[in-house]
Amino acid sequence: MPATPISFARGAPAPELIPVEELAECAHEVARRDGARVFAYGPGSGYAPLREWIADRHDVPVERVVLTVGGLQGFVFYAAEQLARRPGRVLVEAPSYDRPLKVLAREGVEIVALPMDDEGLDPDALATELRGRPDSASFLYTIPTFQNPSGRSLSAERRARLVEIVREHHLPVLEDDPYGLVRFEGAAPPSLLALEGGELVTYTSSFSKTVAPGVRTGYFVLPQSDAPGFEERAVSTYISPPFLPEAIVWEFIRRGRFEPNLERVQGELRARRDAMLHALEVHFGEHASWSTPEGGYFVWLDLAAADTSDLATRAEEAGVAFVPGAAFFPRSSGLGGSSARLAFSYETPARIVEGIELLASLR
Ligand SMILES: Cc1ncc(COP(=O)(O)O)c(C=O)c1O
Repeated sequence: MPATPISFARGAPAPELIPVEELAECAHEVARRDGARVFAYGPGSGYAPLREWIADRHDVPVERVVLTVGGLQGFVFYAAEQLARRPGRVLVEAPSYDRPLKVLAREGVEIVALPMDDEGLDPDALATELRGRPDSASFLYTIPTFQNPSGRSLSAERRARLVEIVREHHLPVLEDDPYGLVRFEGAAPPSLLALEGGELVTYTSSFSKTVAPGVRTGYFVLPQSDAPGFEERAVSTYISPPFLPEAIVWEFIRRGRFEPNLERVQGELRARRDAMLHALEVHFGEHASWSTPEGGYFVWLDLAAADTSDLATRAEEAGVAFVPGAAFFPRSSGLGGSSARLAFSYETPARIVEGIELLASLR
């Protein structure tokens, strides 16, 4: 048993991936230089210099960029706005990020889980679902790059096909992309936002994986007509977001620290991903299959007939934690019982190897 529990459960960066000293200096600097703005109420859409930088990167007018208190807060706003405007079922990938599934279930929304494979969401399944029902769907929620929980990415061909389908059906899409920049190899495919032009596709990301989750700074690139409603929702929820962390992120970028830090994070995570894939090969071999992500935080493990809820309980007692696959499907689907999400973001390569070996011994 390891001296301290090994966590494959936490979709969080290891403490050593967070540039604490540099962020502390940035905090000091922005508080002194821009304190009057940072410590006051201000626009619900967030700290203007950071919004401008994001608008530039996505080549959109700044009015379309709204900062959020992390991507999940933004999801709550988006779902509320979109469901009010266009009530209906919400389409998701199967599996999908568990927290939005919980948010939607809590609101009593019908969730339709669409199949995916190693190339991501199956566009034909989307087209069939949309043609098969006369009532309109509210929106599609998708994580096309290094998906949480599967680590899979939607191929370039499928991205183009998906955009054709959503145009044909006039289906709004929320593209959630917190991991896209955390790429270890391969060329980045275009975002759905870039392919579609941003009339139907709303794009969201955050600085949780590229700077630090504790800054709680996410953002949305919205269709022009949706931005005022979104901002109004922010104002009537928290008046204005905390500007200090947004200004810290901006200062970090202004100093030229964003790219070098990202490269360091990519290198650290690549080593962890490699350690996990190698250990799976050695210790699970033919008894399981798993995804091979080119970036992000997660590997998706399929254990054929095994019950991963039971395995998770026994693993926790033995000192290894992971989230069983069923958490990432709508509850009523009954799917995911033999799968597991393994996060390689939190542990060192040596502890990852130790944890996988332990898991394999409990299988
Ligand atoms: C797909 C996805 N979206 C959104 C988030 C929320 O991140 P944050 O609220 O830290 O921006 C996460 C966090 O793990 C995630 O995996």
